Amino acid sequence: MKTLHVNAEKGYNVQIGQGSLPNCGEVIARILGPCSVGVITDSNVARFYLEGCVRSLTDAGLRPRAFTFPAGEDSKNFSTLSDILEFLASSGLTRVDAVVALGGGVVGDMAGFAAGCYMRGVRFVQLPTTLLAAVDSSVGGKTAVDLKAGKNLAGLFHQPSLVLCDTDCLNTLPEREYQCGLAEALKTSVLAGEGLFHYFEEGTARMHIEEIIGQCVGYKAGVVERDEREQGERKLLNLGHTVGHAIELCSGYTTLHGFAVASGLSIITKASARWGWCSSATACRIEAALKKNDLPTATNFSPTALAKAALSDKKRTGSTVTLAIPSEIGACSLRTVDIHELEGLIAAGLSPMEDL
Ligand code: NAD
Ligand code: GLY
Repeated sequence: MKTLHVNAEKGYNVQIGQGSLPNCGEVIARILGPCSVGVITDSNVARFYLEGCVRSLTDAGLRPRAFTFPAGEDSKNFSTLSDILEFLASSGLTRVDAVVALGGGVVGDMAGFAAGCYMRGVRFVQLPTTLLAAVDSSVGGKTAVDLKAGKNLAGLFHQPSLVLCDTDCLNTLPEREYQCGLAEALKTSVLAGEGLFHYFEEGTARMHIEEIIGQCVGYKAGVVERDEREQGERKLLNLGHTVGHAIELCSGYTTLHGFAVASGLSIITKASARWGWCSSATACRIEAALKKNDLPTATNFSPTALAKAALSDKKRTGSTVTLAIPSEIGACSLRTVDIHELEGLIAAGLSPMEDL
């Protein structure tokens, strides 16, 4: 078991390894002490892991009560959040109690949001069960729901007290969800540098998945420690996300987040090469790495539709939008562009690679 520490305002450990979920109660009880816990999960994850998790929590002397909502991004809204909050209240949870998020990024974002606002904030634990949640969303304390106007538009920062990542959960993950996790990890590798990127360039990421989770969490922990509230450096973690969120919105959330991020990364990379912000050589390497890992590099949505959708993104401030740009592998930067330039930029990112 590998343990990393996130030295945020409220520090916590991230434990990564095989087989921890069936014994999660003991570790969680050590961090939380005796209390009631609201276990929040979704309908797919519940089938595989809820019973074992609840048993382990009970055996450790905690008092678990479980709430399951329908799996999928469609559930990431205020209606589900309200159901979770009502459940916590009707279960009699008080300020000394806690929430456990058992699932992927949707469960983590929803349960974290609920924990952050229930009684003005109770503790919570992340038990990530998708690769995407393991490499990214379970760490860093961002929580959110989607609004009709756009992705993640309502949320709060609320750091977990513990992240316990059982890599055995990846064995039941559908292939496309695994690929989504690889997309988010590839994004991190472009930020972190050659030591992580080479796994994606060589196509060996799946063989080293625990190492990759550890490196992604280690990189993200550093960024979060330096800029917990996303005033500057943390914006880099949104690499590929401005266009990615626009693709999700345009598709009515039928395009999975990881695939949207992969396309968004490809589009912003090609646009950056054409606008002189990154070399063709770097752009070609990122494009090749995406393809090597069977990830999408385009979208059928028009630059006009994507630019319109992107303007509802949180990264817009007034008449400008700040974008993360892949200058080189391991050296990304932030660029603020006028909103009127966005459509042209996206159009540049959508023209074929051969033109570079
Ligand atoms: P998800 O939570 O919807 O999980 C994907 C699918 O896999 C779901 O159908 C789920 O039921 C199923 N599943 C989960 N674990 C499983 C397992 N072990 N075995 C079988 N099936 C399993 O999606 P995701 O890709 O984990 O997360 C995407 C969400 O995360 C998006 O809403 C995105 O906005 C958010 N996100 C948040 C952050 C953050 O920092 N808070 C970062 C990145 C992404
Ligand atoms: N996933 C981006 C962040 O946590 O900041």
